[in-house]
Amino acid sequence: MTDLDDVRSLRATDASDMLGVVARLPLDARAGYDAGLAVDPVPIIDGITAVTYAGMGGSAVAGDILRSLFRDRLGVPVEVNRGPQLPAYCGPSTLLIASSYSGNTAETLAAFEEATARGCRVMALTSGGQLGHRASQLGVPVVGVPGGYMPRAALGHLAFGLLGALEAAGLLPRLAADVDEAVDEMARLITELAPEVPTTANPAKTIAATLGERTAVIWGAEGFAAVAAQRWRTQWNENAKLPAFAAAMPELDHNEVVGWSRGTGKHFGVVALRHDGEHEEIAARFAASLEIPAEAGAEIVEVQASGRAPLAQLCSLIVLGDLSATYTGLARGVDPSPIEAIDRLKAAIGGPA
Ligand code: PA5
Repeated sequence: MTDLDDVRSLRATDASDMLGVVARLPLDARAGYDAGLAVDPVPIIDGITAVTYAGMGGSAVAGDILRSLFRDRLGVPVEVNRGPQLPAYCGPSTLLIASSYSGNTAETLAAFEEATARGCRVMALTSGGQLGHRASQLGVPVVGVPGGYMPRAALGHLAFGLLGALEAAGLLPRLAADVDEAVDEMARLITELAPEVPTTANPAKTIAATLGERTAVIWGAEGFAAVAAQRWRTQWNENAKLPAFAAAMPELDHNEVVGWSRGTGKHFGVVALRHDGEHEEIAARFAASLEIPAEAGAEIVEVQASGRAPLAQLCSLIVLGDLSATYTGLARGVDPSPIEAIDRLKAAIGGPA
């Protein structure tokens, strides 16, 4: 176990500096947005009827962000495709965005090749690898992402690179003001949640200390908070090396709540990710819904997004989740960065990491 207020021990346990990598998110977001705006050639979107974002794990999150923030403003559906097969509708009027941080993920490469064969408009988001190679062979737009990150930690580059490229293409409106706010909000939070700030004044450390070894169950309202909840789950898995679960409100009111029966909650912590843009019908459900796991013995934590626009609010939840998960891992004495199980599976399946 590592004392979260012993900064020297935190740094020693954090051998690959996940805390430092998370702290770079605002700078990465800014750099990603600029790289996206400069994409060359610019993706052609005339006449498209769908946007399909193909990616896995950490590289898929940018697609979820796009879908959750813009689905009510885009005239075309956005789908995130997590697997090698594409839906039947994908064809010449689909914009297919293949995103793989390493450029070597088998499922994403298969989706990219399938999209190319079907004549989709294709673009790529990658640091290189086979995807970068194939995209430059074919001359399709590529938003390049710097190497040297764990894929999940490259989110600033991937998500904001995607937004910049789709703004350059004319699919998204001008986002500069929203990006500025999101970058500033992330920077403010990173200072507030820094390793030097003691647990009593540091909400990320407090969440880590409150949940401890309890299994985290993250709730968020359908939309961007549900995307943040999934990000918390996967960061709990990868940075804290713990099982974790996520669910969206109001869907969870129609199934999960039944599972919180007497005594079942004692090894769990439910974290509700709230924001002031929740649909009023959903907002009204939270208090009564949270009482159910509380009565079952679960620890309950409620956090509120900060910032004004949805992009900043989503980023605020992501920063809090990334740091809470990292502190949880460090408190358990584990190095948050390595992902041995994923590496082992990729090697067993035969593809490059
Ligand atoms: O967090 C991770 O490392 C994984 O979820 C990867 O993102 C996933 O395996 C896909 O790899 P890549 O992002 O390189 O395409």
